[in-house]
Amino acid sequence: MKSLFITGIGSGLGKAFVEIALKKEYKVYALSRHLPEEFEGKINFVKCDLRALENIYKCMKDLLDTEEIDLAILNAGILGDIKEINKTNLYEIQEVMTVNVWANKVILDFFINESIKVNQIIGISSGAAVNANKGWGGYSISKASLNVLLKLYSREMPETHITALAPGLVLTPMLKYILENVDEEKFPSVRRLKTSPKQTPLEAAERIFNLLSRLKNDFPSGEYVDIRKI
Ligand SMILES: NC(=O)c1ccc[n+]([C@@H]2O[C@H](COP(=O)([O-])OP(=O)(O)OC[C@H]3O[C@@H](n4cnc5c(N)ncnc54)[C@H](OP(=O)(O)O)[C@@H]3O)[C@@H](O)[C@H]2O)c1
Repeated sequence: MKSLFITGIGSGLGKAFVEIALKKEYKVYALSRHLPEEFEGKINFVKCDLRALENIYKCMKDLLDTEEIDLAILNAGILGDIKEINKTNLYEIQEVMTVNVWANKVILDFFINESIKVNQIIGISSGAAVNANKGWGGYSISKASLNVLLKLYSREMPETHITALAPGLVLTPMLKYILENVDEEKFPSVRRLKTSPKQTPLEAAERIFNLLSRLKNDFPSGEYVDIRKI
């Protein structure tokens, strides 16, 4: 039986990854704040708020009863407010960095320190990592940092294939929030988001599962890959 470790399964893409993994008969290990009702009794779950960096190592210890994981998806992420970077306080950026970057560092350190063999890691990045559009401040910085973090770890985890993957637009609560609440006059990239094609979470998750071996075979470990460009 294959195994999946995943963060952030309460909604959106993460929830869809778990649905598909269960259909594919993976054993699923998840860290998140919320466990969707339909997964109760079907997955190994530890409730964990990734903002509390000091708790993550223990959450991982409580969760994992295996020394080998086929696939780890570092999915949990937050957006923060879309607003001008000069009007964004450092503490707001700090919270986004905590969840989107540093929580993943603790998890990757856990894998190394506890000698957990992980075959493939997908870190969910974003086009925002390279676009740096007006208003995407903390989120853009966090995803660019995630890309570099994953590249750095790829050099220290030679047995593991790592990809920072931008999943394209997915109609999740995060994207819906942007489409419904952000002023497109002030932040023109939001207008583009409104007119661009969007995937459902299940479509996006299925597509990523189907790409796993291609990502592993065709791209060097540590690379940032935008799914829209391959
Ligand atoms: N939607 C898009 O178009 C798009 C595009 C590019 C990249 N992404 C990335 O895709 C990933 C998933 O986002 P989504 O679009 O599916 O949005 P979402 O529905 O808002 O999902 C965010 C996920 O992160 C988890 N999470 C948030 N804060 C957490 C915390 N403090 N501790 C533990 N888990 C936490 C949530 O789980 P809980 O409910 O348990 O907190 C939830 O499952 C993110 O990394 C996002 O940046 C999305």
